[in-house]
Amino acid sequence: MKPADSKKALACAVLAARRAGQLMRENQGAVKTVNSQSAHDIKLELDVQCQKLIEKTLLTDYPTAALMGEEGLAGDANSDLRWVVDPIDGTVNFTYGIPHACVSIALQERVAGSFSTVVGVVYDPFCDEIWTAIRGQPARLNDRPIHVSQRRELRECVVSIGFAKDAESLRLNLPVFNDLVGRVLKIRMMGAAALALVYVASGRFDAYIESGIYLWDIAAGGLILQCAGGEFWHRPRASGPKFEMLANNGLVRRKIQARAKLARAAALCNQ
Ligand code: IPD
Repeated sequence: MKPADSKKALACAVLAARRAGQLMRENQGAVKTVNSQSAHDIKLELDVQCQKLIEKTLLTDYPTAALMGEEGLAGDANSDLRWVVDPIDGTVNFTYGIPHACVSIALQERVAGSFSTVVGVVYDPFCDEIWTAIRGQPARLNDRPIHVSQRRELRECVVSIGFAKDAESLRLNLPVFNDLVGRVLKIRMMGAAALALVYVASGRFDAYIESGIYLWDIAAGGLILQCAGGEFWHRPRASGPKFEMLANNGLVRRKIQARAKLARAAALCNQ
């Protein structure tokens, strides 16, 4: 994508994220309509409304693009441009009035048959913090360049862990939690994947681990992390469309992966 095109796409994504964020802010204290609920997940009518607002903004300027959102698909599925949208990331926090949730929007381009993220925006409407990135350029927070932390030792690290929504993710990451909690400075579980990624990008966290996460949770934050000098290690889980992920500052992945391997093997032996 040409630089001028990426800049225009970023401006459009920022506008869409700010519009949806305003709707979230206006409804922060309101009783929310729950469309569906399961053991570890809530889907709100406001998720749908925010996605519609985002779709309208993005597809007005990009009528031939595809859009893959947590609340469904829109646009032209065959397009080489695809918006990837989580209208409210951290829905459970938002439902309970915990002001830690965000809007996540990525633009992906199909190159040689596979999609690569070229633009990313994550907006926290409660702190009015907006993270942006264009592939190949520095990541920014409220327009200022950001960089990952320089911490190398686990004992100085703040590591975030998410437990997604399924049993597989608990099976994989509970042993890792149990192992790391005694080795790192602090473990944090904040409940919004895109914010955890941009917190690593900003040097607030040193790493973030999650398994069973969807593309719309990680596409924008993953690019922002890479553009901030971090490492966005992720791979599709064998069982389906979800991903396993270890986002980090580029200095601690091997140490965390080594601990995770030992902890998971020990958990298997103890079964
Ligand atoms: C969820 C949150 C949560 C993470 C889950 C995500 P949602 O997204 O980011 O922190 O643990 O894996 O699915 O459902 O609030 O958009």
